Formats: sequence, C-alpha cells, structure tokens
Amino acid sequence: MGMRITVPQIKARKKQTKIVCISTYTAPLARLSDEVADIILVGDSLGMVLYGMDSTLSVTVDMMCLHGRAVVKSSDKALVVVDMPFASYQGSNATAYKNAAKILAETGAGAVKLEGGREIEGTVKFLTQRGIPVMGHVGMQPQNFNVYGGFKFRGRDKEEFEKIIDDAKAVEDAGAFAIVIEGVTRNLAKRITDRVKIPTIGIGAAPECDGQVLVAEDVLGLGFGQKPRFVKKYAELNEIIKDALVDFAADIKEGKFPAKENCYE
Ligand code: KIV
Repeated sequence: MGMRITVPQIKARKKQTKIVCISTYTAPLARLSDEVADIILVGDSLGMVLYGMDSTLSVTVDMMCLHGRAVVKSSDKALVVVDMPFASYQGSNATAYKNAAKILAETGAGAVKLEGGREIEGTVKFLTQRGIPVMGHVGMQPQNFNVYGGFKFRGRDKEEFEKIIDDAKAVEDAGAFAIVIEGVTRNLAKRITDRVKIPTIGIGAAPECDGQVLVAEDVLGLGFGQKPRFVKKYAELNEIIKDALVDFAADIKEGKFPAKENCYE
C-alpha cells in the first residue's frame, strides 16, 4: 500500500507540476484512475452521469458516502475529495459540519468540496478551522441550475467577471486548499490563477490553471448526450461496449454461450 497524497502536498503544487484530477465514482474506475491521478474527486455529477438525473440537485449525502467509500477502498495513492451535495451545507454552519464530518468519517476521504464564493466564506472557515479540509468551486456552479436556468458559462459581463474573482479570493481567505474553476472564459480563469496562492483546478476554464479535471466517463467516451466543447474524449468505450453486448446476445441466441469451457462438469 502506497502513501496517499496529502492536502498540504496538493497545496504546495501551486505553479509547480500540473495537478491531475479525475472525477469518478465507482470502484473499477477509481482503481484505474488511481494509477494517474493526484486527486480523485467523487463529484456530485454522479447524479447525472450514473443515475440519469437532470441536474445534481437530488443527490444526497448518503449517495456521496456510498460512492466515496467505494472510491477510497479502491485507491491508495490519490487524495480523495468528496462533493458536498445540494442542501447539505448551505443552511447553517452546524449542518455543514455535521454532514462534512459524516462524509469524512464514513468514506475515509481526505477532504470535501463545496460550491460557492463570498456567500459561503463563513462556512468554509467554520469547517477548515475544525479539521475539515475544503476544496472550493467557483464560476459555473451546477447546484445553481435553477437560478441560472440551465448550465451556462459564467463571467461574460464585467460585473460577474469581478464577482467570480472576489468569490475565489473569499474561499481562499476562508482556508480552502485548492479551488475548482468551472465554465468561465480562459482570461478569467487565468486571472484567478494569478491572484490566488492556492492551486486552481480548471474544467471548461484555462490551460493556465494549476491542474485540470474532467469526469472519467467523459474522457472515456462512456457519457451520453452531446459532448461539450471543454471535454476531450480519449477513448470511445460506448462503441466497444455496444459491440461486445451485441456479440454476447448473439451467442446466447445461437446457443454458443455458455461453451464447454464456461461449464462445470
Ligand atoms: O461533480 C463533479 O464531477 C465536479 C467536477 C466536474 C469539477 O464538480
């Protein structure tokens, strides 16, 4: 068993070698991701990617605990960060602490991630001062799906551009060890990366970020729906799986499966 990457080690990577972060949720993909990732993020995108939900709003703390535990059990190198789902931290600091502590205790993960900026700085401070490492998430925040009216790029006008920089500063000052920047222009992600002293991890952001994250299913061609511009597919596993299942079904129909070698005499 190797030594897991720690929160201080990730923090020290600012402007050093790029941080590889993979969002994934299951034992098989966690095992494979652990070979290359510095951080495995158990993202609440699992609601959409694994459970077919229209947004991440129905994901629960219990779902995050189950998937977080599977990922921790199936990895031993990467720092595992688990998303706090919608309504598990926005209500009060006490609720946030209770849920974050449950997630860390039940999964064995090293940190939690919270979406939000200036409005959650008090919560981030409350958690980080009480032993819970926090990763921030600014820019496009999928838990604001209903407020935005969908998933929309952020920071196009000057006011919002400045607000997102202020959000990142607030989360840093509150004690976050790293920040995900999602769905903003390259220029904005670059500005934030220059302004904060903690590593930034981009998704739909900029190559200048200190690291990058994508969902493993998207990288592997296991996703469904239209591929967004910020995703790069490195494999087409859906096609491979489809072909394999067609062959399997044909073998069953033709009586070729199970063959002699698949039977116990
Ligand atoms: O939920 C998720 O997977 C995420 C990353 C894509 C940043 O938040």
